[in-house]
Amino acid sequence: KSPPKPSLITAVKAMMCPKRCMCQNLSPSFTILCTKTGLLFVPPSIDRRTAELRLMDNFITTLRRKDFANMTNLIHLTLSRNTISQIMPYAFFDLKGLHALHLDSNRLTCINEDHFKGLINLRHLILSNNQLNFISPGSLDDFIETLEDLDLSYNNLVNIPWDTIGKLSNVNTVSLDHNLIEFVPEGIFSNLHKLARLDMTSNKLKKIPPDPLFSRIPVYAKSKGSPLSSLVLSFGGNPLHCNCELVWLRRLTREDDLETCASPPELMGKYFWSIKEQEFVCEPPMITHRTPKLVVMEGQSVSLKCKAVGDPDPYVRWISPEGKLVSNTSRTISYENGTLDILTTTLTEKGTFTCIASNAAGESTASVELVVNPFPHLANSTNCDKDAESGPSDILISAKSSFPNETKAQQEKKVVVAEISKHFIDRN
Ligand SMILES: *[C@@H]1O[C@H](CO)[C@@H](O)[C@H](O)[C@H]1NC(C)=O
Ligand SMILES: *[C@@H]1O[C@H](CO)[C@@H](O)[C@H](O)[C@H]1NC(C)=O
Ligand SMILES: *[C@@H]1O[C@H](CO)[C@@H](O)[C@H](O)[C@H]1NC(C)=O
Ligand SMILES: *[C@@H]1O[C@H](CO)[C@@H](O)[C@H](O)[C@H]1NC(C)=O
Ligand SMILES: *[C@@H]1O[C@H](CO)[C@@H](O)[C@H](O)[C@H]1NC(C)=O
Repeated sequence: KSPPKPSLITAVKAMMCPKRCMCQNLSPSFTILCTKTGLLFVPPSIDRRTAELRLMDNFITTLRRKDFANMTNLIHLTLSRNTISQIMPYAFFDLKGLHALHLDSNRLTCINEDHFKGLINLRHLILSNNQLNFISPGSLDDFIETLEDLDLSYNNLVNIPWDTIGKLSNVNTVSLDHNLIEFVPEGIFSNLHKLARLDMTSNKLKKIPPDPLFSRIPVYAKSKGSPLSSLVLSFGGNPLHCNCELVWLRRLTREDDLETCASPPELMGKYFWSIKEQEFVCEPPMITHRTPKLVVMEGQSVSLKCKAVGDPDPYVRWISPEGKLVSNTSRTISYENGTLDILTTTLTEKGTFTCIASNAAGESTASVELVVNPFPHLANSTNCDKDAESGPSDILISAKSSFPNETKAQQEKKVVVAEISKHFIDRN
């Protein structure tokens, strides 16, 4: 009944090569090559000591947890050009030594938190030509400091987990071309000291913000002729809005290509490099409409509006009659387009509100007067509201001070009660 000796198992296993595959045993490195062999699954008979496994051009649809179990020596894994649409959680968990993972030309639609767990030595991650529309921010965490090459090109990505990209401290090449990206946050590349190629060709970018990184190292628009230790930034094929915010890009060392402007109308279709720097202009905001004086009853909701035009689109903030910047609260919502919704007005909001429209070219302000009439029947409950508002902090103070001999647990209980009642009041 006793199991066979382990050494015997190993010896038998070492002999095995999956059907129709080619195996090379250049000890100590095993290479297995199974291309165009009609595989529907990763063969179970793969030697666990394999260093290089190439399974491209097959019909694998799912990567299972057991497929790569115990393959701690695997350095290179190629699964390109299959039909993989599903990766089971932790499918790569044992691949502690893996340097390169090629998953290009498959049918992946999303990358979740647990898909790439365990790949603590990964340097090259190739995910181009899939149908990706989502990448979880935590999914790259295990190799955030080792990754050198990230290829997400030719997918359907609108959003990129930018904060994660910004932490790839060892990354050299980032390929995001041929996606649907509309937005790049400013300064996101500033810590990527080794970045040498950033490809954002053919996306939906109207603008590309300058980055502290771009001012530290020379930036080129094409790789031809660019010196080492420079950054090559490719951005053709985007609907660029050529205003003053893109002047920095226009100042790059050019290598002629087909970049054009999509707007403003007078620059539409023009060749980016042919436009003079002075023609990349912005318009300061101008407030074209605003709400006239409004009279409301206390407790009513009210919407104050300021409409501003400019290039780039201005964003609008509001200053309350008390002189404070109005932020989003449970009672007020300040939209960037210039609408300020006050859901229940109070007497403190009586007075002159000021809207400030700003953009890269300047600022413009206007005033809107709000008259709030007290609601007679509410007089009593208004007093109640006032009591309630100052209530929680009173309780908090008494919990801390008035009974010095109380146990800590008793005090904490009171604080909790105070917190709960505060939340309750906030919500109401
Ligand atoms: C991996 O190793 C464990 C422990 O040695 C073993 O129980 C398991 O069967 C192995 N799995 C595979 C797929 O080889
Ligand atoms: C307030 O919330 C709205 C809608 O969620 C959002 O568009 C706006 O940017 C927020 N304003 C501020 C100042 O955060
Ligand atoms: C601004 O956006 C809000 C919410 O999307 C909308 O209700 C409001 O009418 C808009 N205001 C203007 C001036 O377009
Ligand atoms: C509140 O209501 C009570 C009774 O309904 C009344 O006597 C009192 O004067 C009211 N207080 C105020 C401030 O109106
Ligand atoms: C704290 O002291 C007060 C007055 O000295 C006393 O009434 C109360 O029982 C004491 N509480 C505790 C928890 O010892």
